[in-house]
This record gives sequence, structure tokens and C-alpha cells, in this order.
Amino acid sequence: MKEIYFAGGCFWGTEHFFSGVDGVVSAVSGYAQGSPDFAGRPSYEQVYTDTTGFAETVKVCYKPERISLDMLTDLYFDIIDPLSLNRQGHDEGTRYRTGVYYSDPADLPVLEAAFARAAERVGQPLVVELEPLRNFFEAEERHQKYLDKNPDGYCHLPFKTFRYLRLYQDISAFLGDEPDPIARMAEISAFIYERMKFFWVGFYIVRDAVVRDAAAARSDRQGPGLGQELVLGPFQGPSACLRIAYGRGVCGTAWKEARTVVVPDVEAFPGHIACSSLSRSEIVVPVFASTAHASPSAAGKGPVSDPQGADCTGIARPKPIAVLDIDSKDLATFDSTDALWLEKICKLV
Ligand code: SME
Repeated sequence: MKEIYFAGGCFWGTEHFFSGVDGVVSAVSGYAQGSPDFAGRPSYEQVYTDTTGFAETVKVCYKPERISLDMLTDLYFDIIDPLSLNRQGHDEGTRYRTGVYYSDPADLPVLEAAFARAAERVGQPLVVELEPLRNFFEAEERHQKYLDKNPDGYCHLPFKTFRYLRLYQDISAFLGDEPDPIARMAEISAFIYERMKFFWVGFYIVRDAVVRDAAAARSDRQGPGLGQELVLGPFQGPSACLRIAYGRGVCGTAWKEARTVVVPDVEAFPGHIACSSLSRSEIVVPVFASTAHASPSAAGKGPVSDPQGADCTGIARPKPIAVLDIDSKDLATFDSTDALWLEKICKLV
């Protein structure tokens, strides 16, 4: 068993999150990195004064054979804003600063690599501490498992974070090393649809376009997306349109721009393709080729044989091989939390 200490803002939410991570044996709320002038165990009220140097911190004990420090630290970065100094969500003060504190010096290179990955992702220097653990005191009993005891209690993390964590881990475990991307997409659609109760969940896959006329045949493969289109793949929900052109609708836009598109109100999105009049908001997430599993092209009919493309700036950008489309009957269902977790889930394709 190993341990690592995560300060991620209010410990109620951070503890609840890490308690739900498979391979974590215990997550305990406490206070770490207090000033050397402060003798003994601090109380919550003392830490609250913001003069003790302590940060609300969660001690995470885990089985390294079930979850790596690498993965744990990546999950930590999924739930913090690493650019926000002494503030996470609505909570402000040095007691809510972010930091990773280690008791085993051998963990440092792994942590440094995880910090470097996070810094590259956000493209700026992080304000997250990375230090050897100086001190840690368990918080009072009323702060332990706070959100289990108070399910409607305050949490600086959006509550859907916890549902997405469970969903992500279950999909990941269920798919295992299944090599067929269509089977993986089918299972992912079913998991998301069942758990999250969205109106429509499914994949559109980049395929060679069916040549319907001579003009289309002449335009074959003259530029990005030409000669290709999105074709309906595994999905859950009402029947949907079969094919979507490059750059058309929300799906074609996410494909063209190779980025997640969140649409709070489909009627306000120019060119939205209405498969059902009941759909009111939507998110579309691109799926990129991965080397972790058999790639779609290895499965026979590869949607795209060259996953790298160049945009007009000449900079190589990964090209989507499919998109995950999710529709909701409510307005403004999706936000950056959905985008983050659905992007992680799409990496499982
Ligand atoms: N609304 C999508 C089309 C697909 S359906 O929502 C299932 C779009 O505009 O691309």
C-alpha cells in the first residue's frame, strides 16, 4: 500500500472524489503543510483563520497494483484549476491552495512528469505546489465522509463529476482489451445512455463517402474532409440521420475543427441538423485514433488511415476518426465538466 497527499480546495469534495477511485483504499480529510510555528494538531476553526499555513488536504492510500500514481495524479488534475492561486471554486484562502505532497521521495519523478503533462495541457506554468510532506493531521470526525453524511451538502466540485468518475471507471473496466472499436463504441453508448439518462447518445464514424454523382467523384480527396462523411455508428435512442457532411451541423463542425462543441441551445446554432425536434441542447466530442487498443484501421475497414492532418497554418493536427454526439431534451445540459469526462471516455474508444 502507498500514500499520497492531495490538496485540491475544499477537502469535502476532494475526499469524496478520491474515495470513489478504484484502487484507493482510503481517503482521509486533514490539514497538511502547516507552518513550523504552529505546534500540534490544528482545529478546523484555526485552519479557517488562514494564519496557520495548513492546507485542506486529503491523504489517499492506494494499492499501486490497482492504480498507478500516474493515473491518480492525472485524476487530481481533472478536478482542480491548476492556474488558480489560493482559490478553487467559491473557496478562497491559502487553506484552499492546491498541492501534491509526497512521503516517498521515489514518487517525485512520477509526480514531476504528471505536472509537466498538466502544464503542457493548459499551456501555462501551474500554481500547484509539489513538495515533500512536512506534516499532516486528520481533520475532525464531522469532516470525514462529509458528503456521504450530507448528500446535499456544499461541494465546490460539480456533483456530476462523481457520476462521471464512476461511469468512466466502469466503462474502462468493462471494455478491457476488446480490440474492436465498433464493439467499444456500442458499449460506451449504452453505458452513457443508461447511466446519464440523456436523450440520444451515439457515434458518427468518418467513412469514405458514397459517390452519388460524377461531380462528387471528381472532388474525391482534394482536401480535408472531401471524399469523406460521417456515417451513423452505434447509438442509443430514437432513430437518427444516417450521414452528415464535413463541416455540417454540430457533428460536422466538431469533426472539421477537431474539438469538442458544446451547444446550449440547438436553435441558436447555425446549421444544426435536427434529427428530433425534442433535442434542445447537444455536445459533440471528437474521437482520435489511439494506439492503446487496436486502431480502427487495424480492424479492417479503417475510417482514416492517416490520423494526422495539417490545417491551413501547416501545423499538424490530429484528425478525428469519429465523433460522439449526445443530445438532451433540456436546454444548457452540457458544460466543461461534461466535455472533460466525455473526452476521457472517447479516449477509451
Ligand atoms: N444534431 C446533430 C445531428 C445528429 S443528431 O443529433 C443524432 C448535428 O447537428 O450534427
